[in-house]
Amino acid sequence: MLILGIESSCDDAACAVLETERAGAVTLRASAVANQDAIHRRYGGVVPELASRNHLVTILPVIEDALEAAGCGLREIDGIAVTRGPGLVGSLLVGLMCAKGLAQSLAIPMVGVNHLEGHLLAPLLENRLAMPYLALVVSGGHTALFVVEDFGRYRELGHTRDDAAGEAFDKVAKLMGLGYPGGRVIDELAQRGDRQRLRLPRARLRGAPLDFSFSGIKTAIAMFLASPAQAGVRAEDLAASFQEAVVDMLIRPTLAAAQGLATDTIVITGGVAANSRLRAKLTASAAAEGLRVVAPSFKFCTDNAAMIALAGSYRLLRGERDPLDLDAEANLAL
Ligand code: KG4
Ligand code: ZN
Repeated sequence: MLILGIESSCDDAACAVLETERAGAVTLRASAVANQDAIHRRYGGVVPELASRNHLVTILPVIEDALEAAGCGLREIDGIAVTRGPGLVGSLLVGLMCAKGLAQSLAIPMVGVNHLEGHLLAPLLENRLAMPYLALVVSGGHTALFVVEDFGRYRELGHTRDDAAGEAFDKVAKLMGLGYPGGRVIDELAQRGDRQRLRLPRARLRGAPLDFSFSGIKTAIAMFLASPAQAGVRAEDLAASFQEAVVDMLIRPTLAAAQGLATDTIVITGGVAANSRLRAKLTASAAAEGLRVVAPSFKFCTDNAAMIALAGSYRLLRGERDPLDLDAEANLAL
């Protein structure tokens, strides 16, 4: 079955063509993304109105790019999987309307996909993984731990009480005058810095060991930057000390969650899973406990449509379809 995936939940418009025989057995034929970082950079964050307006311009060319790279035409597509939430509602609507129009005109089924389900299943694009596995979704919009029990069966173990980890990276980068999005810049700067230079707090939530909180570390950095002490600290050292604190706050609940689960596999996924220190430190800490860490390659960590096509594939293969009055849901639960 040839599936067209469409994703437009935030500031990336993406399309992919995925070939699948049965759930999990997939060949990715093409994956195209139109990135809007250059548009939002000057505002230091995603401006929802600009994101949706730009999706209107790029969505059809991105679909054409993916089809061309896959070497197939629209008439060969058997089904469409499209993100219907959670996300920015104006952005979601562009992809969803496009999917509906294609499904109706081609007379093929369409299913709406939860964006988080896409991130949870993304490692299956490149790896054969047995379920259940533990997954840490860590991006600009989400930080949560799930057990992936089967296709369509996900159990949440914990989530952030305030900011997402990627949001903390982006806000601290903004405070440091490093531009947007900040995660990758901090990661690069930190490689030349001293992780122990600053003593920063590691939040632990009483009675909720599997939850996260990143508002305290952000405030600690803001206060430090407003203090006279900041003059004596290099940006590299500040970046490395901040990143180490965030990584520690991601690792502790993740390893705690892995205890007692019937799996030896921890998946990290979402934009922050691209972080080199998180990958290295979690891999080493997990190995010490007999656990292995699997992370998708960078292009499948950040938002993409291949993961959406994959997440929709098991429902399309079962012959399911959603009605054409399906609505976008900004706060869609998994
Ligand atoms: O998954 P994603 O593309 O979009 C959301 O669904 O949010 O993730 C984007 C987030 C941004 O906050 C960005 O700063 C962060 O991922 N990010 C990183 C790195 N690369 C991207 N954070 C830390 N280290 C990185 N190397
Ligand atoms: Zn995402």
